Amino acid sequence: MLEYRGYDIRDLAKKSSYEEVAYLLLYGELPKKYELDDFKMELTERRELPPQIIGLLTQLPPYTHPMVVLRTSISYLGSLDKKIDIKTREENLEKAKNFIAKFPTIIAYYHRIRTGQNLVPPKFELNHAANFLYMLHGEEPSKTAEQALDMDLILHAEHELNASTFAARIAASTLADMYACIVAATGTLMGPLHGGASQEVMNMLREVATPRRADEYVRKKLERGEKVMGFGHRVYKNVIDPRTELLRELAKKLASEGDPNWFEISEAIAKSAYKYKKLLPNVDFYSASVYENLRIPDDLFINIFAMGRVAGWSAHIIEQYENNKLIRPRAKYTGEIDKEYKPLSERD
Ligand code: COA
Repeated sequence: MLEYRGYDIRDLAKKSSYEEVAYLLLYGELPKKYELDDFKMELTERRELPPQIIGLLTQLPPYTHPMVVLRTSISYLGSLDKKIDIKTREENLEKAKNFIAKFPTIIAYYHRIRTGQNLVPPKFELNHAANFLYMLHGEEPSKTAEQALDMDLILHAEHELNASTFAARIAASTLADMYACIVAATGTLMGPLHGGASQEVMNMLREVATPRRADEYVRKKLERGEKVMGFGHRVYKNVIDPRTELLRELAKKLASEGDPNWFEISEAIAKSAYKYKKLLPNVDFYSASVYENLRIPDDLFINIFAMGRVAGWSAHIIEQYENNKLIRPRAKYTGEIDKEYKPLSERD
């Protein structure tokens, strides 16, 4: 079972909203109605970007990966924050709300700029998930699309000491500023063995192209000793990640209302991966077909993960600051010891 601050992820995914979950992670308790209303209002007010960041987005080469854009923008936001080094609880929460509110705008604006489209400013009335899809596509999403992204963000919001959160906590444990911690997390998330897997999954779905080619694809990949992206997990071994089941349901629902091909290929791959190596899909596997059906470009997949996870990162950083001890593991040297130092001229 996976819980966020004592609440079953399945309840949160089905009954809550991303804003409510972000509040829960940051403040430790579910909000009362007026607290949630205030929190949503605060996020909404923080959505727009400073002109310097919009300038940066226009200057970066259009082939820059959107995760590189995101981490560069976070760093730049830090340079604009005169209170960058202040770490009171109030100020930390202020920064966290800024990250949560601005991530979607950075991602959507960059995408619009690189594809030569007009910027679509945030819409006050729309919730977090719907507003992102609106800013990205320039039209309000369907209720199904909005609910799907909202649930996806909830499912990605937190997962204890995964690599990116651990990176954030290590940075926080040195008392580095919060922007530095979020940059560390964003950089770590990008790797294909972590958040980068969903983009790799989509590459795989495209390569397989039809469900009947899935079995041969998986068999050959495993024979070559290669990883099948979107399978396996450091924590969930021989048990299915509870988030995967929820995302599978979501992918199935979107497929029934949109293009079923990607979900059908996913199912065929999952069947073969289990048949040949008892591999189980992880959270990134069904995310790919969900995002594809939400018309999200492949290279934004990791950014969507970051959009959800930033609430968890922020909560961890604040927790680390408030009860800090430097995280500093030791390494064990296994090479030869007591070697004689020879001057350069005497070395063969
Ligand atoms: N494809 C093929 N084989 C895999 C695999 C995958 N996706 N994931 C694990 N395995 C294999 C390992 O190679 C190993 O095989 P072996 O015993 O023949 O050497 C066995 O399963 C056990 O692997 P394990 O040690 O449990 O994996 P790990 O904890 O070191 O790695 C991941 C976990 C996530 C890094 C790994 O599963 C992986 O690279 N997955 C693909 C990338 C991905 O989807 N990442 C997102 C994670 S949420």
